[in-house]
Amino acid sequence: MKLIIIANRLPLTIVQEKEEYKVIPSTGGLSTGLDSLETKMDKHWVGWPGMYIDDCKEKEVIDEQLEEQNFHPVYLSPDQIENYYEGYSNSVLWPLCHYFSNHMRYENKYWEAYKEVNSLFCEAALEIIEPGDIVWVQDYQLMLLPKMLRDRTPDISIGYFHHIPFPSYELFRGLPERAEILNGLLGADLVAFHTHNYMRHFISAVYRVLKLDCQLDEIQMDRRVVDVDAFPMGINYDMFHDALLNQEIKDNAEELRVSFGSGKLILSVDRLDYSKGIMIRLRSFEEFLENHPEYIGKVSLVMIVAPSRDNVDIYAELKNEIDMKVGAINGKYSSIDWTPVYYFYRAFGFEELAALYHIADIALVTPLRDGMNLVAKEYVATKRGEPGVLILSEMAGASIELSDAIIVNPTDIKEIESAILQALEMPAEEQLETITVMQKIISTQTVKQWAKDFIEELTGIKSKNDALQ
Ligand code: G6P
Repeated sequence: MKLIIIANRLPLTIVQEKEEYKVIPSTGGLSTGLDSLETKMDKHWVGWPGMYIDDCKEKEVIDEQLEEQNFHPVYLSPDQIENYYEGYSNSVLWPLCHYFSNHMRYENKYWEAYKEVNSLFCEAALEIIEPGDIVWVQDYQLMLLPKMLRDRTPDISIGYFHHIPFPSYELFRGLPERAEILNGLLGADLVAFHTHNYMRHFISAVYRVLKLDCQLDEIQMDRRVVDVDAFPMGINYDMFHDALLNQEIKDNAEELRVSFGSGKLILSVDRLDYSKGIMIRLRSFEEFLENHPEYIGKVSLVMIVAPSRDNVDIYAELKNEIDMKVGAINGKYSSIDWTPVYYFYRAFGFEELAALYHIADIALVTPLRDGMNLVAKEYVATKRGEPGVLILSEMAGASIELSDAIIVNPTDIKEIESAILQALEMPAEEQLETITVMQKIISTQTVKQWAKDFIEELTGIKSKNDALQ
C-alpha cells in the first residue's frame, strides 16, 4: 500500500552544476510534513519538476535521480505551461479564489489545456497506482483529477486539499466551468480546506450548482458520501523553534542585527503576488512615517519578496509598482545612516529566514486574501523567550488560530498604521505573553499533525463507504 501525493510542483529543485544536473528535495511545508508522517506506507510524489528539458539524454539522467527518490515527473510543454499553469490555474482560478475577479483573464484554450494537463497527471499516477493505495491530490491546479482517478480506479482512497481560499458562491457562480470543477472535486472521498469558512462556501456552491443533497460536512453521492472538512495546516514547529540553537544561525542573526543598525525592525516576507497586499503595506508604512516623524530614523521595514509567476503580466506589473514605491519612500526619507525600506527581491532559505524572524521586532503580515499564511506561524515559532509582535490580516486563514495577534483589515491603511504604532509601543511582557499563547496553539497543530489527521480521516471514510456498497 502506497501514499501517493499528487501536486502541480514536485517538492524539489533541479540545479545545474557545470554539465551535471542535481535533484535537491525541498524543505517546504508540505514535504516536511509528509516526510515526518509516521506510516508503513511508501510515499511517492507525482508532479511537474518545474522546468522544461528538451534534451533526451539530460532528461534520462534527471528521471533516474527522480525515480530513485520516488518522484514521478510530469513534464509540461511550453504551451501547457502557458495555458494550464499561467492561464487557467493562475489567470482564472487563482484570482477567482482570492476575490480578484478584476484580474481574471479568460480564454477557451486555457480550459482545454487545464483538462489536458489534469489528464496527463492522471495517466502518470495510474502508472504507479495499485488497488488499496491512498492518493492525495493537492490544490487548485488539479481540481479535475479526483474524478478522473475515480472513473479509472474505483478501489483507492482519494483525498483533495485546497490550499487557497474557496470563494463565496456569488463569486464562484461566475466561472463558466463551475459544474465541471465541482464534479471533479467530488471524485474524492474527502475534500478539505484550511478553514470552516472555505468549507461552507464549497458546500454552498455544490448545493446550488449541482443541487446535491448536502449536510454540514457531507455530500451524498450515488452510493457513497464525500466528506468535507477543515484542517488548518501547520508548520514544522520544532525546526523553527530550535533554529536559534544552531550556532551558525545565531551568529548570522547577530551580525545581521548589527548591520541593520539600532532601530526597530519590521519584517515582511511574501511571494510576489497581488493577493499579499504588498502595495497597501508599503503605503501604510509611508503614512506611518509621515504621521509619526518621531519614528523617522528609528524603525525600518525589511521586505522580502520572492519572485513568482513573473511571466503573468499582472505579476510583472506589480513588481514594477513595488520597485517604484520602495524607491519613492527611500528617496524621500533615507538619510546617510538610515534606510526606511530594505527590499530584497529574491527567495530566502531557511537559515536566513530564521535569523530574520529572530531579530525582527514586528512581523507585518497583511495579505488581502490568503488561504492560510505560514510566515505568520514561522515568525511566532522562531521566538524563544524573547519579545516580538505579530500584526496579522483578518483575511489570512491563520488569523483564526492566531487571534491573539494584532488583527487588522488589510485594506485599511489607517488601521495598519495604528497597528504599527501599537506594536512599537507594546510593553515587552505583553509581547512575551501573547507569543507564548500563540506558540501553545501552533506547537500542537503542526504540519505533521495536519497530515496525520487528514490521512486518518480519509482512511476512515473509505471504510464507511465500503460498508455502504
Ligand atoms: C501557493 C499555492 C501552491 C503553489 C505556491 C507557489 O501556495 O497554494 O499550490 O505551489 O503558491 O506558487 P507556484 O505557482 O510558484 O507553484
